[in-house]
Amino acid sequence: MSANITVNSLEARDIRYMLHPHTNHVKHREVGPFIIEKGEGVFVYDTAGNRYLEGMSGMWSAGLGFSERRLGVAAKKQYDNLPFYHTFVHRSTPPIIDLSEKLVEMSPVPMSKAFFNASGSEAIDTIIKLLWQRSNAMGEPDRKKILARKRAYHGATIASNNLTGLDANHWGHDLILPVARLTCPHFYREGLPGETEEEFATRLAKELEDTILAEGPETICCFIGEPIMGGGGVIVPPETYWEKIQTVLEKYDILFVADEVICGFGRTGKMFGTQSCDLRPDVMVYSKQLTSSYIPFAAFVMNEKVLGPIYEASVKYGGMWHGFTTCGHPVAAAIALETIRIIEEENLPDNAARMGERLRRGFNEFLNHPLVGEVRGVGLLAGVELVINKREKIGLETVGQLGSMVAQRMQANGVITRPTDDAVLFSPPMIITPDEVDIIVDALDRSLDEAAAQLGI
Ligand SMILES: Cc1ncc(COP(=O)(O)O)c(C=O)c1O
Repeated sequence: MSANITVNSLEARDIRYMLHPHTNHVKHREVGPFIIEKGEGVFVYDTAGNRYLEGMSGMWSAGLGFSERRLGVAAKKQYDNLPFYHTFVHRSTPPIIDLSEKLVEMSPVPMSKAFFNASGSEAIDTIIKLLWQRSNAMGEPDRKKILARKRAYHGATIASNNLTGLDANHWGHDLILPVARLTCPHFYREGLPGETEEEFATRLAKELEDTILAEGPETICCFIGEPIMGGGGVIVPPETYWEKIQTVLEKYDILFVADEVICGFGRTGKMFGTQSCDLRPDVMVYSKQLTSSYIPFAAFVMNEKVLGPIYEASVKYGGMWHGFTTCGHPVAAAIALETIRIIEEENLPDNAARMGERLRRGFNEFLNHPLVGEVRGVGLLAGVELVINKREKIGLETVGQLGSMVAQRMQANGVITRPTDDAVLFSPPMIITPDEVDIIVDALDRSLDEAAAQLGI
């Protein structure tokens, strides 16, 4: 334990009693927790009273910032009226009905029904279970394979972890789902010498088709993808990528699951990533900004093509025997409804588009900095790829060292960001103002120079 952590402090008790998710447990004993105790707009405060601009909205989450009182009021009203009821065997509650209607009605492509979960990972698990059930109901029990992409992040439960394409997330876990992995559509890293973005997109669509043919089209259950990859490094595919991919999926009649857990509810500058990328998914998955993460919640909507065989299975087998005690929780539904109301009233997707543009314009000024290889993003999602050798596109000795170094400098300069390998990522609350965007840009300016000085570059 670090020398400046005192006995019985919050830090000491955290180290003593809590096992943290996505954390190096041994290092945690050394460095201790970073404890946040208060939020205000786009800012959070640690226990020493230091203020940070939350450049990641927590975890791509608090789109409304950290002090939206209307969500607490909506929660209290529902707690006072009906704090809990379940949705198994025909039970329902008014807020979950209102929310189901709202999610289906606001879908940018035709959708029929909504299902609810407590986390994005659970939602993805449920979808796989449901789509496998659909294959069985259609009399096609071999149709179980899932097409997913390298560098995708889809969650941490057994199924969603299996679909995730980040090697670090697989260590120590068994990969047991039948997943065929496709190339990540990151032109900067995956494009071949001399290849144009259009040729890159064509190559990846061909890879998809070759994979489908090699696996057997009749064995493929679905393709899953984030419209813009988040955790993998804010990867924006080339212009024609999605159209080419969807043409192949439609040719072989393969279901498309759009993982909107990060992109959904305004993050990309439109209400859904599906609109920003012109997608035609059969299933759309939501979490995070759905409630600004003020309460654990997730949902997915699906179309009649997905549902048809599932209805038939219900006739044959007497029901869909899947669900969780608190799925469709009325308080979470009330918070989600209020969140969506605020996003629509304040036109936050539009603010995300305008503020995102300002953020990237600021970052683009650093393209000549010796440590900056690429600036990318859409809406209020941005990534800055760091390198020490621009031609070779390489960082320090260990992948991630440079990203961590700059992210640490950012935190010291009052902005919380997140490194993925050697990219620093940004996803600030959608309520952000121009002045607050400039705080992020200024902090990156300073942090890049400090890191370069430290490296003697
Ligand atoms: C795109 C995407 N899908 C799914 C998930 C899993 O969501 P959760 O962490 O709520 O289980 C995440 C989490 O970051 C995500 O980014």
